[in-house]
Amino acid sequence: MLKLLTLISLLFPAKGLSDSAENWQLGFQDPATPIMEGIINLHHDLMFFICVISIFVTWMLFRTLWHFNSHQNKNPSSLSHGMLIEIIWTVTPAIILLVIAIPSFSLLYAMDEIISPAITIKTLGHQWYWSYEYSDYLNEEGESIMYDSYMIPEEDLETGQLRLLEVDNRMVVPVNTHVRLIVSAADVLHSWAVPSLGIKCDAIPGRLNQTSLFIKREGIYYGQCSEICGINHGFMPIAVEAVSLPNYISWISNKLSE
Ligand code: CUA
Repeated sequence: MLKLLTLISLLFPAKGLSDSAENWQLGFQDPATPIMEGIINLHHDLMFFICVISIFVTWMLFRTLWHFNSHQNKNPSSLSHGMLIEIIWTVTPAIILLVIAIPSFSLLYAMDEIISPAITIKTLGHQWYWSYEYSDYLNEEGESIMYDSYMIPEEDLETGQLRLLEVDNRMVVPVNTHVRLIVSAADVLHSWAVPSLGIKCDAIPGRLNQTSLFIKREGIYYGQCSEICGINHGFMPIAVEAVSLPNYISWISNKLSE
């Protein structure tokens, strides 16, 4: 009994919100943006259809195997064609697909939408680190905020820091603000992906990709490069720190006076 409880608690850890991968994780990380909430809801909607279809098809398959094998059914029917059944098994899947298409398309267009952003952040993939540029703000010399974000190597980790996920300079954004992200790469293909934020945006050299971000709660969100980009592909993580607006403003002014 105790062992079973331990197993259950391993499978479903009763921790706070998870914004990075966890041991024995089965489902999604917790959503922090309306987009990720939409993705999870769509997944649950689809799971309903998948369950009903799988159960129905399995039932039909085993029923057919049972009733129509040569032992049970010595004289097979010569029927080869049925108008009504063919209409039914063509139209029903089409209707299911249409029902799925409605929420799927609305989510797809919502992900594409960029609602008058308050901040634009440019993120560049490099071999093998990310760099961030806040070009909305300029200091006295007319320079914008730009910095690199490297993974913290295992031997330099401090207690509580996540191995292969923590970085030296996180990307900092305010909560409840519409942010535009411009994603590109300096050398080869990379991909900027953070599960809790519902973002996976390819970083392509010579091309600017655009995506939007609206974080609903403060926290640190972890992600990883998601396009094979060379030997250190697994060692260029992404850490996004969402802070309150006053904290963001003081962070920006600190960065500007550096
Ligand atoms: Cu950068 Cu994979």
